Amino acid sequence: MKQNIAMDKVFIKNQFPIFKDTGLVYLDSAASAQKPLCVIDSIKDLYSNHYSNINRGVYKLSRILTDKYEESREIAKKFLNVKSQGEIIFVRGATEGINLVADTVGRVHLSKDDEIILSRLEHHSNIVPWQIAAKRSGAKIKVVEPDTEGNILAESVMKLVTSKTKFICLTHVSNAIGSILPVKEICEAARSGGIISLIDGCQAVPHMRVDVNDINCDFYVFSGHKTYGPSGIGILYGRKELLEEAPPYQSGGDMIDKVTFEETTYAPLPNKFEAGTPNIIGAIVLGKALSWMEGIGIENINVHSKKIIDKGLRILKDIDGIKIIGEVENRAGVISFLYKDVHPHDMGTMLDNYNIALRTGHHCAQPTMNYFNISSTLRASIGVYNNEDDFIKLAECITKVKNLF
Ligand SMILES: Cc1ncc(COP(=O)(O)O)c(C=O)c1O
Repeated sequence: MKQNIAMDKVFIKNQFPIFKDTGLVYLDSAASAQKPLCVIDSIKDLYSNHYSNINRGVYKLSRILTDKYEESREIAKKFLNVKSQGEIIFVRGATEGINLVADTVGRVHLSKDDEIILSRLEHHSNIVPWQIAAKRSGAKIKVVEPDTEGNILAESVMKLVTSKTKFICLTHVSNAIGSILPVKEICEAARSGGIISLIDGCQAVPHMRVDVNDINCDFYVFSGHKTYGPSGIGILYGRKELLEEAPPYQSGGDMIDKVTFEETTYAPLPNKFEAGTPNIIGAIVLGKALSWMEGIGIENINVHSKKIIDKGLRILKDIDGIKIIGEVENRAGVISFLYKDVHPHDMGTMLDNYNIALRTGHHCAQPTMNYFNISSTLRASIGVYNNEDDFIKLAECITKVKNLF
């Protein structure tokens, strides 16, 4: 583990300009993380001093920026422990990554009556693209239910598997209630059964070491803006053989080998899936953000994250009238709760008056809300900059405003 000073709360928080003299309590990192100064500076520097288009330029500026873009791919490759650079595709975010797989790999591997397994805890991004793929191909969606608290068990997933199962697509961590799914166990079983697995890592990557080789998944996606990087950029890891046999997702410049009016041949991976001018600076700065996380130490981040979530849970549970939604066994980054019968939007709005930013609503996970017979929750979610004091302030403010309802 790297030096513990790295998780010192003052040291970390000072790297985020948004917290300077503002008193902001930011508890919405599951929606999007705040940006450290190195990320903000890097965007300014790249646009100010190094900008051009990439890939085709013979001049220095373009060659250097192309190298930086590919260096960032290498950073993402190492970050996820991926074997080859061609298996890292820059996408707009997790949503685009999942759409890409459902639309291309889904076209090759789904036919009438095939089955796609999803869990009840998926973000809409890992539901709707599969519904569209199922409609197109005549495949069916099967839903894994959690236990009463919101844990998804590997055996519940495996019970749904039949000879028709072609895909198992699961979130690594539920963005609505925080449960960690046993993805390694499931993906290993899927691999040995010849089933394609896709893991949505949006809420896992900010909190824990993710090794796709170890998980044994075929696809893994995450969004850069949740890992302290810019929005509009994310990573899709895909197993080479599956990406190679799939048709392109979008077409145009950069994804081709040769174009004639009679026939077009496609570029090798990863370019085949990166049509058009990409989010060049976004991709490079995402690499900076991932390196910044590695600099702190993913193990340090994980220890800190668990500690703050445990403390936060204890603090919230001590408030009379708080109900935790999803008393899950293994949790990362997220606590969903209700206060008596107060509507989450009302409570969230009141808390905003005390400079506390937290998310209210269904968190793009309506099937999860339905499971708990509710329409919305208050959701406190953390990043590296949060500490116990944020939950103490949250508890104080809930206690202050509760008399108003
Ligand atoms: C689990 C999960 N999957 C997918 C997404 C979609 O991410 P994006 O909107 O960045 O594509 C989110 C965003 O909140 C998420 O939490």
